[in-house]
Amino acid sequence: MAPPNAPETPDSGFSHRTIERNITLLAGLAFLVVAIGGIVEIAPLFWIDTTVEKVEGMRPYTPLEQAGRNIYMREGCYVCHSQMIRPFRDEAERYGHYSLAAESMYDHPFQWGSKRTGPDLARVGKRYSDEWHVQHLKNPRSVTPQSIMPGYPFLATRPLDAGDMRAHLKALSRVGVPYTDAAIAAANDDLKAQANPDADTTALLARYPKAQVRDFDGKPGELTEMDALVAYLQMLGTLVDFNAAAAQEQAQ
Ligand code: HEC
Repeated sequence: MAPPNAPETPDSGFSHRTIERNITLLAGLAFLVVAIGGIVEIAPLFWIDTTVEKVEGMRPYTPLEQAGRNIYMREGCYVCHSQMIRPFRDEAERYGHYSLAAESMYDHPFQWGSKRTGPDLARVGKRYSDEWHVQHLKNPRSVTPQSIMPGYPFLATRPLDAGDMRAHLKALSRVGVPYTDAAIAAANDDLKAQANPDADTTALLARYPKAQVRDFDGKPGELTEMDALVAYLQMLGTLVDFNAAAAQEQAQ
């Protein structure tokens, strides 16, 4: 505040003084300035296809992973587990590289979650063996004595009834997941092949690079819900190779 006896600054036409003393003019100009900011932010979105930066390695989920994902949702695993590593040092040290938008671009619906009663699962893939997952899902206390996670022993005995995966993939392709016609046509066969180490998986692997093919539930010849859920968990966070990306960045 200027002292009361300070000389008034000369009013040179269209100055702050004029604007601040006329509420209508002030409101009008404030609106104009905010509108410019808004247009600068919003207008480009009309001309770009996607706001998600593409990352090497991301691919649509295999039919078996997708079926496992459906079980994950059915059982409400997202109520206790998030799949979103925030860009903070403590999170990156515990869980690995923070999550990228592209890593959930094929998630319909996304599984970021909002509560962590258990740990984040965005990068749990390949961190434990299949046997560990099977044991843990059947009875969490048998591997983590203090665990409060409920057991899901029935997953190991229930045969996987995923429905017609062709229709499922087709629906996903309608909302933008790039499944090819060939992938959709082969969906039901791909579902079985991924859990069968004896199957010919050349086409499956060409369609879904880095897909892990094996018997996941430890019961060869039986395709259970456990197969699908463990296949899904073992894939989480393994598609984008952050070591390669970091090495490439350093080389530049
Ligand atoms: C009531 C909350 C709750 C629910 C529901 C729940 N979990 Fe958990 N989960 C936990 C807790 C707590 C832990 C940490 C203790 C442990 O390892 O069991 C955990 C641990 C895990 C881990 C090990 C993670 C790590 O990095 O060590 C996996 C994998 C997992 N849960 C998967 C699942 C799946 C799949 C489902 C759904 C079928 C599920 N959880 C449902 C609470 C829950």
